Parts: sequence; C-alpha cells; structure tokens
Amino acid sequence: MKNFMTYLLLILILQALSAENSRKVIILDKNWRFKNCEVQNAEKQDFIDRDWEKVIVPHDWAIRRNFDMNLDSQMVQVKEDGDKVPRLRTGRTGALPIFGIGWYRRVLPISESDKTKQIFLEFDGAMSFAQIFINGNFVGEQPYGYSSFSFDITKYIQIGKENILAVRLENKPESSRWYSGAGIYRNVRLITTSKTRVAHWGTFITTPKITIKKAEISIRTEIETEQLVGEKVKLITEIFSNKGKKVASVTSTQKSSTQLRFDQQAQILNPMIWSIETPVLYKAISKVYVNNILTDEYTTNFGCRTIRFDKDKGFYLNDKKVKIQGVCMHHDLGPLGSAVSYRATERQMEIMKEMGVNAIRTSHNPPSPELLQICDSMGLMVLEEAFDEWKSGKNANGYALSFNNWAEKDISSMVKRDRNHPSIIIWSIGNEIREQGSADGKETATFLAKICHENDPTRPITAGFNDHNQAIKNGLSDAVDLVGFNYKPFDYKKKHAQYPNYILFGSETASTVSSRGEYKFPAKEVKSPWYNDYQVSSYDLEYPSWAQTPDTEFEAQDDYDFIFGEFVWTGFDYLGEPTPYNEGTPARSSYFGIVDLAGLKKDRFYLYQSKWSSTPVLHVLPHWNWPDRLGQNVPIFCYTNYPKAELFVNGKSMGVKQKDKSNKYTRYRLMWKDVIYQPGEIKVVAYDENNKVAAEQTIKTAGEPYKVVLKADRTKIKADGKDLSFVTIEIVDKNGNLCPRADNLLFFNVLGVGRLKALCNGNAIDQTSFASNYMRVYNGKMVAIVESDNQSGDIKLMVSGGKLKDNLLTISTEQ
Ligand code: GAL
Repeated sequence: MKNFMTYLLLILILQALSAENSRKVIILDKNWRFKNCEVQNAEKQDFIDRDWEKVIVPHDWAIRRNFDMNLDSQMVQVKEDGDKVPRLRTGRTGALPIFGIGWYRRVLPISESDKTKQIFLEFDGAMSFAQIFINGNFVGEQPYGYSSFSFDITKYIQIGKENILAVRLENKPESSRWYSGAGIYRNVRLITTSKTRVAHWGTFITTPKITIKKAEISIRTEIETEQLVGEKVKLITEIFSNKGKKVASVTSTQKSSTQLRFDQQAQILNPMIWSIETPVLYKAISKVYVNNILTDEYTTNFGCRTIRFDKDKGFYLNDKKVKIQGVCMHHDLGPLGSAVSYRATERQMEIMKEMGVNAIRTSHNPPSPELLQICDSMGLMVLEEAFDEWKSGKNANGYALSFNNWAEKDISSMVKRDRNHPSIIIWSIGNEIREQGSADGKETATFLAKICHENDPTRPITAGFNDHNQAIKNGLSDAVDLVGFNYKPFDYKKKHAQYPNYILFGSETASTVSSRGEYKFPAKEVKSPWYNDYQVSSYDLEYPSWAQTPDTEFEAQDDYDFIFGEFVWTGFDYLGEPTPYNEGTPARSSYFGIVDLAGLKKDRFYLYQSKWSSTPVLHVLPHWNWPDRLGQNVPIFCYTNYPKAELFVNGKSMGVKQKDKSNKYTRYRLMWKDVIYQPGEIKVVAYDENNKVAAEQTIKTAGEPYKVVLKADRTKIKADGKDLSFVTIEIVDKNGNLCPRADNLLFFNVLGVGRLKALCNGNAIDQTSFASNYMRVYNGKMVAIVESDNQSGDIKLMVSGGKLKDNLLTISTEQ
C-alpha cells in the first residue's frame, strides 16, 4: 500500500511538472490597437495608444474603406500583357487604400509562470515589410508579406511588467500586381514552451512506402534546447488515427546538445489512404522528455498517400491516374479582403469542389495555413507557389527588391511550414518570372529548386512559363521537375515530341473573361473584348490576347494523355487586375473568375462542372428577358454532361443537339444559334443514352421585380465571433422567377447577436464600399455576409428595397 501511495505521488508530481512544462499556444486575436500612418516612438513601451482604433486580427486595414480609382492608377508597362510602352493602368490592386504604413500594438499575455519559459511569437503572415518590436526593442523583420515567420522573444520579456508588442508594416506603392491586402491579415500566436522543445516547424513526416497492408512512416524531429548539454532527451512519437485510436508509437533517446535531430521509423498496419474521395488524416504527437519529465507536446497532421508523375501518362495519386482539374486562386476573399477567415476559405473550396475541382494553385504565393488545412480535410490537392518575381521585377517596388537577401529564407519557410500536408503535391518556385528571358534564369531556378529538394525530397518542383520557348532555350525548364506552360495548349504536342522527357502540364490556362448574367451579341469568339458598359459576355467566348476559351484547353487535355492536367485562371474573381478594363475605367476586380467576387456562379461554372464532375449537369443560358431584342436572334447554349438535349421555345421544338467532335465548341457545349427571341419560356430536355428523358430546365421571361428572396448557406452558425453566414439575395417577380436584369438598391439591417460583415454583388465596376449597408443587386443577385458575435441567440437580417416586398431571415448562433 505504501509503495502504491509513493508511486501515485510520483505520478502526480510528474504530471504537475509536465503540465507546468508543456507548450501553451495563445492566439493573439483581440485587444489590438491600430493606426494607419507613420507614428514616431510607436514601438516604445510607454507610448500611449488609447486613441488608436481597436481592431481584431486577422485584420485587413483597406477592405472596409472606400474605393478610389486614384489610389492605384499608375503608368506601367505590363510586358506579360504585351504592352510595348507604359500605359495608365487603373484598378490594378483593387482601388483600395492598401498602400502606406500601419502600426499595430497590444499587450502580451505574459504571466509570472512564464518566468522559466521560452517565449515565441509566430506570425502566419503580415503585409508587408513587418518590423517587430517588444518593449521598444527591435526583434526582427520579414519583408515578404506572404511568408510565415517566428521570433524567440524571451530575452525581451519583462516578467511582472506590461509587455508591449508593436508591429510596423509598410506597403510601398507599386509593390503588387493584384490586391495584396494590408495589415496583420493572418493569425498571430504567442507560444510558451519549456527549455527543451520541438523546434519551429520541427517535424517532417514522410511515407516512403505504402501498401494496402502497411505504411512505413519516417518521422524527422528537430529538438532545440537551452538546457545543459548531456541530459537524457527522450522522444516518444505516437500516431493516432482520425478516430483517435493509437496506431503506432516509437521511442528514441539521445544525449542533449543544443540542436538535436531524431529520425524515427514507424509502421501503420492497414493504413487509411488519403485521397480525393477519402481525405483521412493521421495525427502524430511528439512528446519530449528530459530525464523522464515531459517538456513538450507537439502535434503534426499528416496523410498516407503516394504521388507519381509520368512524362507520357500523366499523374498518379495512390497509383491511380488522375487528371488535374485545377484552378488558380488569389488569396483574397473578395468583399472580406485578405483577412483570413476559415469559413470564407472553406466556402470557396466547397464551391470549387462542387464544380469538380481536384486541385488548387496558390497563385502566386504561399497561402494561409487555414487553406491547406481545409484542402487536407476536403481532399483537394495543392500546387503551392512561392513567387511571382525573382530578381527582375514586374513592379517598381515588388519582391525583386527583397529577392537577394530573402528568397532562400522565404522559400525554405514555405516548404518547412507546409511539407507535412498530404494535399500538397507540387512546389512552384515561380510564376512567369522575367528571368525566362535572361542568362541567369537557370542558375536562379536551380538555386531555388535545390532549397525545395533539400527541405523536401518527396515532391517535384515546377514553374509556370508564359515565355516557354525562352524558358526552354535558357535551360530553366531543365532546372524544374515538371514543366508548366501558361496558355500554350496549341504547343503541347509539338513540345512533347521535341522534349520527350519533359513532364508537361497547363500551369495556368484559359483566362476566359465573363460578367455574371451579361450577354453580348453576336455570341462569337472575341479576343480582347471592350464594351462601353465595362462588362464582358457570359457566353464564355471572350478572352485577352494571350488567353483562350475553356474549350480550347479541354480539347488539348482530352487529346493528350501526357498532359497531366490544368489550373484554370481563376476559380473565383479577385480584387485587382480588371482585365480587359484595366486602363482608365471604373473596374476594380477581375473578370477571370468562374465564380464571381461574391461567390455566385457564372455560367462557366456549369461548363466546368459538366466536364469535371460526375454530378448530372443541365444548365441553360442566357436568361429570357430581351425586350430590346424582340424578333432578333438570341442564341441558346446548354452546358450539360448528358449526351444530348432538345430545346423548346414557347413549346416549339428547335431540334435535338448532340455533342460531336466536329469542332471544340460542339464537343463541349450544345448550342442552338438561330433562335429568335419572343417572350415566354425556353425549355431544355436532356436525354440519356437510351433516349429517355433524364432532366429538364425551363427559364421563363420574368415580370417586374416584386420581392426579395433570402437564402443562407447556413442558418445555424457558431457563436465564436468569427463564423459567417453567406446569404444570397435574389429579386424575383410575382411568380418567383428570377429578374435577371434587376438592379434594385437594397438596404440591410442586422439585429441580434451578430453583425453585417460585408455586401457584394459581383459587379466589377460597382464602387459601393463592401462595408456599406446598402448596395444595388447586380443582374438580380447579390450576397450579404453576416458574422456572429460571442453570444448564442438569433441574428435577424432584414432587407428592404423601395416598393419591393421586404424579407427577413433568422440565423441562429450556438456556442
Ligand atoms: C497570367 C499571370 C496571372 C494573371 C493572368 C491573367 O499571365 O500569371 O497572374 O495575370 O495572366 O490572364
């Protein structure tokens, strides 16, 4: 009994010591003060910031402000767009005030018990040129706004006093080709650990061999210690399944030195394989002990999957051939700007997945950790890209200024932070970098590729080449494992024959432009479109000079097995780069998106969905309200994965159309080109292989706008102050038909335990602030984003617009 009591006491003491020693992670989201200008002495401990704005981080200082076309108008030569001379570009970075200096300050939650601890600050990203100060002392800096970084701040901390963190950021003018956002736009954490711990990004888990029966797991763990050299350091790595069951455990011991590396091997029997359909994750918990006392616990998520690229046959995930159906995405979240939001990112990925997307290219920079977490858990593969510029810049104050001093650190940070994510299958060292045409291109590519390979020997490296002939000539394409072509479907076959060892893919494709719900006549292919209303046609046939329609790329992807896939430019519209209206127009966001800035689907969504997903798709365009085209031609297109369909206009058959390979358009679309408009209805009936009616869709000519209809993506959200409900607003007539040209001005009012976060209608030229509580619908639709606060209860969203019948929606929130 006595022995037992002693044993129990010992256990309790060890537990207490362990709890005392273990890692503490505090997200620094609240209690920040912010000032959007240069302030002298703002880093000082005793500086008074009482009158500064109170903000929550992640924070984007520009997104809730007013648009102003003067903010980013600039004379610039965009060589990639074919400019021979500088032109006046407008809206290039979203016409929002991202430029300038921003200061953030807050008190750090440090307590007496942290006296013996090692204390770190971890930033997922801050835009940009971050300088970090603690109690007036300069701690360190990080110029590239997309890089994650961490500092050991132990020596600056004063236990028993108020410890002040101050962050200075600066966005220089002409530093980006798109909306970068501004501020501490990703999460910041304060981490306290004991003196012996897993190093920052200190684990690397690989799966060298996977069979149905067994997965061999290699776990590399770096441990740092401030403790005396010579103590016994033990590392136990335990692996848990997604159900929480322990499936493996490995123990290793070493004598301590300041930097320790453990290489452990484990096995998982009957492993669950990470795939697009079954994105299962394992969790490795690293437990560090010094003289049998637990000093750190660190969790790493990983997956068991294999990848393989073949120059003739394409890409294999878990030995199964998969064509990459990818989209490029910028990091902004439309009306929410660049401030990280888990739910907004998840919604983007849900919409992409619904379309049949299986891969994301994080163009042209490392993404938020949240995006990768979401891709891991949803079964989306990722091509993670590091840079848009190397030494030769595209912007007067772009990354090129930092490249020489920072590229090595930035690219290794990207790989080290993210190499455990099963979703990541490719690292990209650059997009359309200008060194394709210069003599030192290959050298820089080799330097960057080497860093990636050293930090992660398991994944191939790529780069996106727009000037592919130069890149080949200069040897850049020999420096990468996978050769990415931007907009070159017409050359795949020839290049494959000439360079049979290249593993080729469309790193950036299509760049078709369209505005949701706009149709231009005649419906024909248009290169470099320009209309006086600054919109482009949703017949999906328009594109800038370097680009193509989706069908052009589909054809190449289908005909050439050796091309392992494509990444369409872009999944969602994004802020900035309003091609083709980027010279002296009111446009401030892109037209490239398959989905608009609000997250509403354009027609193109269904074209890709019909090609990429197994969901039955039957989508008819355009709308049927053409009072100004009475008796004139209005072509009707149908995007479907049924083999054939029949069109009826006001009950009269216009014939059955079947997909055929006579040209690239009839191969992927059903088109009735000679239809004459009369109000009424169009109906498309799809038939299956046996000529049986499989589905139908009818579009009626809508009457006058009558009512506002609200549909939330979720009517129950978390009461965590962060969760969002995306409410789609539609204007309908008395019979419930969508009014496809409605542009009513609507007013929004939110009551209860939440707030109106943003409004967006997807119209690239609308200058109403996203933070306004009124906005016009665009072609019958818009989206209101409602955010919870920290209390459970109801949020009521009320929408009114002149004589329209009002509507009210209740969203409930739960803790
Ligand atoms: C590409 C570029 C992208 C975007 C796109 C628009 O050349 O890589 O960032 O600018 O063109 O089509």
